[in-house]
Amino acid sequence: MMWKLYCIISLFIEVAFCNTVPSNGLAPLIPLNDGNTIPSFGLGTWLGFKDKGLPVQTSSESVVKAVEAAIDAGYRHIDTARIYDTEAEVGKAVNKKIQDGVVKREDLFITTKLWNDKHAREDVVPALRESLARLNLDYVDLYLIHWPFATYPNNTIDDNIDFIETWQGMVEAKRLGLTKSIGICNFNINQLERLMKSSDVVPAVLQIEVNLNLQQDQLRQYCRDHNITVMGYTPFGMLFPNKATPNAPPPRVDDPQLVAVAKKYGKTVPQIVLRYLFELGVVPIPKSVNVDRVKENIGIFDFELKKEDRDLLKSYNKNFRTIDLSGPWGMSKNYPFEINE
Ligand SMILES: NC(=O)c1ccc[n+]([C@@H]2O[C@H](COP(=O)([O-])OP(=O)(O)OC[C@H]3O[C@@H](n4cnc5c(N)ncnc54)[C@H](OP(=O)(O)O)[C@@H]3O)[C@@H](O)[C@H]2O)c1
Repeated sequence: MMWKLYCIISLFIEVAFCNTVPSNGLAPLIPLNDGNTIPSFGLGTWLGFKDKGLPVQTSSESVVKAVEAAIDAGYRHIDTARIYDTEAEVGKAVNKKIQDGVVKREDLFITTKLWNDKHAREDVVPALRESLARLNLDYVDLYLIHWPFATYPNNTIDDNIDFIETWQGMVEAKRLGLTKSIGICNFNINQLERLMKSSDVVPAVLQIEVNLNLQQDQLRQYCRDHNITVMGYTPFGMLFPNKATPNAPPPRVDDPQLVAVAKKYGKTVPQIVLRYLFELGVVPIPKSVNVDRVKENIGIFDFELKKEDRDLLKSYNKNFRTIDLSGPWGMSKNYPFEINE
């Protein structure tokens, strides 16, 4: 009798406290300026571009597996986009986890993005409906304008469409309940100011590149002042030698100072970097299709960096951009970055 009772109590403790992730996931929720909340950590699903800007295709459902592993590991926030060609795989994994009872739809935060060839006001809602069909979802939590400039379907610049009109389409998409929140990516401060003067609806989120080499102090301060949440893409920047270009400033993942910091906290260097971004108030969205690395990356919520370590990480800021889409797009009047070539 006592043995039976012991087994039941042990089982209860295991199910309740050991083997499950809280329903809202491991990452704390952050309030958005429109009353919604966003999990402060997400999974990226961009697999890169091949020549001519075409997305790398997934193989062996790698994104389905990564998203399933992510949800099991406590992620509740997944980032995709029309142009990544991963919406269908994200939707497949998310719907499976909902059907299996692992999560409810309302526990998840799904972001997708409007591509540049659908910037005309009347194209925005149909583009989102197409994304929702690929995702097999009724709504997304966040819809973002991917870039501030428009292109024709052949990828050449169309400067006849201004993002002010695109934003009106985004507001309409929110009003229709197709997305809970709306925001933008890759806007600079001047563009943000012009957008906000044009509309009563302030973007809830700005998604920009943030990593050790590009810490975006000014833009982050501007967003803090206007209650806009910053999501940080390409959080590893040039950290991994296989991705680093010859002109990339340090550090690499084997940098002795970074390795020493990681050792001090019993963490890995990628975890130290992600924790630093989180402590800056940024929502990092690291991409991985490797199940072990997916799990590793979210293990950042059980420690806090000391000031001297934050100072070291801050010192790597060199305003160096990993994602620089200049080339022909650099000619647009709405190109947001400095033109390097
Ligand atoms: N809005 C925009 O314009 C924009 C632009 C770029 C990116 N994004 C979003 O941001 C996400 C993240 O950015 P990103 O994909 O450019 O770069 P990232 O997340 O900084 O880096 C991804 C790379 O790091 C590797 N990696 C991940 N975790 C690792 C770990 N713990 N140890 C060693 N290697 C690791 C991945 O390889 P494995 O997969 O093999 O692990 C992959 O090669 C994208 O996927 C996308 O969702 C948005």
